[in-house]
Formats: sequence, C-alpha cells, structure tokens
Amino acid sequence: MTNYWYQEAVFYELYIRAFCDGDGDGHGDFRGAITKLDYIKSLGVDCIWILPMYPSPLKDDGYDIAGYTDIHPDYGSLEEFKVFLDAAHERGLRVVTDLVMNHTSDQHPWFQEARRDPHSPYHQYYVWSETGEEYADARIIFLDFEESNWTYDEVAGKYFWHRFYSSQPDLNYDNPAVHDEMIRIMRFWLDLGVDGFRADAVPYLYEREDTNCENLPETHLFLKKVRQIMDKEYPGRVLIAEANQWPLDVVDYFGDGDEFHLCFHFPVMPRLYMALKQGDKRPILDILARTPEIPPGTQWLTFLRNHDELTLEMVTPEERHWMWDQYAPEPRMRINMGIRRRLAPLLDNNRGRWLLLNALLLSLPGSPIIYYGDEIGMGDNIWLPDRHGCRTPMQWSAGKNGGFSTADTTYLPVNDDDGYGYQVVNVANQENERDSYLWVTRFLLQSRKQQPALQRGVMEILPIDNPAVLAYWRVHEDDRVLCLYNLSKQQQSISLDLRSYHGDSLVDLLFQGENIILSEWPTVKIMAPLASHWLHLEKT
Ligand code: NOJ
Repeated sequence: MTNYWYQEAVFYELYIRAFCDGDGDGHGDFRGAITKLDYIKSLGVDCIWILPMYPSPLKDDGYDIAGYTDIHPDYGSLEEFKVFLDAAHERGLRVVTDLVMNHTSDQHPWFQEARRDPHSPYHQYYVWSETGEEYADARIIFLDFEESNWTYDEVAGKYFWHRFYSSQPDLNYDNPAVHDEMIRIMRFWLDLGVDGFRADAVPYLYEREDTNCENLPETHLFLKKVRQIMDKEYPGRVLIAEANQWPLDVVDYFGDGDEFHLCFHFPVMPRLYMALKQGDKRPILDILARTPEIPPGTQWLTFLRNHDELTLEMVTPEERHWMWDQYAPEPRMRINMGIRRRLAPLLDNNRGRWLLLNALLLSLPGSPIIYYGDEIGMGDNIWLPDRHGCRTPMQWSAGKNGGFSTADTTYLPVNDDDGYGYQVVNVANQENERDSYLWVTRFLLQSRKQQPALQRGVMEILPIDNPAVLAYWRVHEDDRVLCLYNLSKQQQSISLDLRSYHGDSLVDLLFQGENIILSEWPTVKIMAPLASHWLHLEKT
C-alpha cells in the first residue's frame, strides 16, 4: 500500500507574527521567517503549518479574517508570502495554511455590507435571527468570554449567529454563494502553490434546530465537495480537519477516504499528560482502544501543544478537574475548558518528562506536530490575556528582544522571566549544547525518519502487567521497533515475552549501549524512572 507524504510527515506549527521580525516593526513577518527557514529545515520537519496570515483586526489572532486573499500588512505582502513559499519549497519543506471556513471577522466587507443592507446579497452570507432564540442546544465554546451564540447587531437590528467571539460572525452555509466563495478562496491559494489547508472549526458549518449544531450531515456533504475539487484540480495537496470531537465523531471527517486527509487526534493529547502524571498507561490505552480504524490514505495528526489552550473538552468533568488541579494550580493558568501553558512549564522543565512525552509523540501512530518554541522548551506568560501567553516571540538569542526584533516594543513582550526568559532559553545557547532540548528534538526526528516502522508501522500493544510501563511494537514489513516507556517516577521491572525473536537483538535507538540479546525467556528489563526506549529489532 502506498503511503503518501502526509501520512508520515512531521509538521511544524508556525505563528508568523511570533517568529522573526524582518522589518523592525515589532511584528514577525514573512521577510523574517524566510531567514529562519534553514533553522526549520535543520529540525528535520517536513511541513510548516502557518496560523492565519490574512488581513484581520487580530481580535482572535487572525482567526477573524477580514480579507481572504491577501496578507496582513504587519506580516508582509502577497509577493513576500510567495517568496517565502518558494524558499520553503526549495528546501523541500511543504507549507499548509490555516483556512477559517466557519466565520469571518465582523470587519470583513461582507459583514459590513450584510449588516447595513438586508437586501444586499451579503446579508444572506450570515445567519440572522429576530429573537436570538434558535439553536438553543448548541454549546458555547468560548465559555469565559461569551454568554450566547447570538449577538444583537444594532446596525442590522437583528441577532447574528457566532460559535466563537461575537466579533466572528458565522457564515451561512445554507447559502450556495458561500460555498462558491470558499472554493474560490481555496483555488486562489492553491494556485499560488500552498500544499493544503488546515481547515479551522469545521464541525460548526451548519446549524439545525434540535441538534447541537456540530458534525451535521450537511457539513460533511460540503466538505466532500471541497475534497473532490482538490483531488481533481490539485492532486497531492492536503486537507486537515480541526474537529475537536470524540474519536467516533472525528473519523467521520475522514469519510471513506473522500473527505479530509488528516484529522487532529484531540482526545489522545490530554491523556498523554494524564498518564504521565498518574504513572499509569491506562488513559492512553483506553483512548486508543476507542479510536476506530481509519481509511487508507488518511492519517491522524498528533500533538502535545498548540497555539490554543491545552483543551480539556474531550475528557470527563472529573478528569478535567483533575487535570486542572495537577497542571494548572493557579486560576490564571486556566481558560475556557483548558490550560493555557506551554509544554516545558507543564512538565516542570523536567528533562525526563520532556523526553518521554516527545518520544511518545513521535512513536505513536500519526503525523506529529511540533509547536514553535517547544523544541527549545520556551515558557509561557500567564499574565497575558486570552491564549497570548503561549504565543510570545520566538527566542533566538540572548540579545535585544531575544533576537526576535530590533524594535523597542514587540507585539507581545518577549518572555524574560527567571526560568524561561530569552536570556537563558534561546536557540543560540542550545545550538552550542549538544544535550539541549533543541538537539534532542533533532535527534528524535532524525531517528524517527530512519525507521519506517516508526513512521508508518502498525501498532501492536504488548500486554504487560505493569500499569506504569507502556510497551508496543511499531511494525512495517520486516522492520520492528519496540517502544517502552516507564511513566512512573519509580524504577520498574517488566518481563517481556519475546520468545519468537530468540537469538535476535534489540538495539536502543535512544540510548547507546542499552542493547539486549534476546536469549532468555522471559526477557526482563529494569527501567529507570521515566525511561524511554526505542528498541530496534536486529536479526542475527
Ligand atoms: C480554533 C483555533 O485553533 C482557535 O485559535 C480559534 O480561536 C478558533 N478556532 C476560532 O477560529
């Protein structure tokens, strides 16, 4: 069976505004990002995912689009974007962009026209109500900020529907003109050369009475139509679904292999943290057991962190409170249904935990994503509002503004706190330390790339009694890697039944010198606290 590039790619999530300021105005831009493409390439990633880079009032950091076919002036011009794209392609890096289909900014000319003139064709681009009482079964997503999914618009004299901020009116997908607009926009970027889209908030495109207005059949129909166009006109480009749902609902976004190529696996993510803190593999095994098979030609996208809060929507209320207690002891660390902290602080900057979670991410089935800055263990700033604390400037050096910008003021302050400030945590420092997070990231990605089993193998979970140790094979044809993780802070002993490999040896890809000759049965392994091993089976 053919594996397509996206089924084994590693993604790097890039916030253009945060990465590198090339023109000295305090905002990251494409001109700056171009100068960092070699750095991105050096990590060993395959594809860059760019957060929204369109004109926008930035009330939701660009997820409020005011013009779909241009670049935010702070980030550069369309020409500069094209130079960035070509430069990425020259280095063998693909680029997917974020596409917000569900809503626009209230500053978008469509909405301005729609609210002003009920007879304008644009009025029907949005969802209106005289009473604001419809669709009462739809949940509110931005719980800390919004009280209703309806907001009264003084200009229109009506309520408009929005699943996110009230500055983000939802588009009306019952109007075929909206389909046409979205397809036109997609063609625009695909013609320019982007390799695909991360489609934002796709479960919410349609609204129907007496439903929760998520995952509706009409939504899937539209998305399949989009896929058909992509396949026909732009083969090889990809569609990624951001559908924060339970596995059973997410798999519908793969269709029969005729909808999205990739879907984020939201439910597995918090369970990686849960398992680590509990020293118990069961949360991970439970969710994998509840994850259905996916159609050929598709893949999960896995991640530890992203630009949003660490979402706790896909856990039970008890688990959510437990996660908050464990990982977000201060109220400021919480937002909506999640935790607004970065990877390194979540793990108390503990190297063992950091290595374990990253090794786990890179060895589970799926295409992994690394969030910019997490490869150097950047910290967060919980004193900033909303999710901004996890979106501060990239820390390149100990110089002014961490080498991010020459401006006196930056779009958000560069992190300069004691533990994670740019003076200490930065790329330049870590380039010089061979055991830094940065080099470990490169090492892990390189090791993964050399093992077809880790990239595209099937997963065979080993039924071992010890709840603290997660053990599984990844298997691709003759290639086998045994992944072992001791999730607990205590040393653990496990016995493995590896009789069928008698005489072969297991070579540790992560720690040299840990090779095991499979001569005895059972094979007993003593695992240090928080130990991670990728053991490659070598035939004799
Ligand atoms: C999901 C995005 O990841 C998030 O940042 C944004 O606020 C919402 N969608 C609304 O577009």
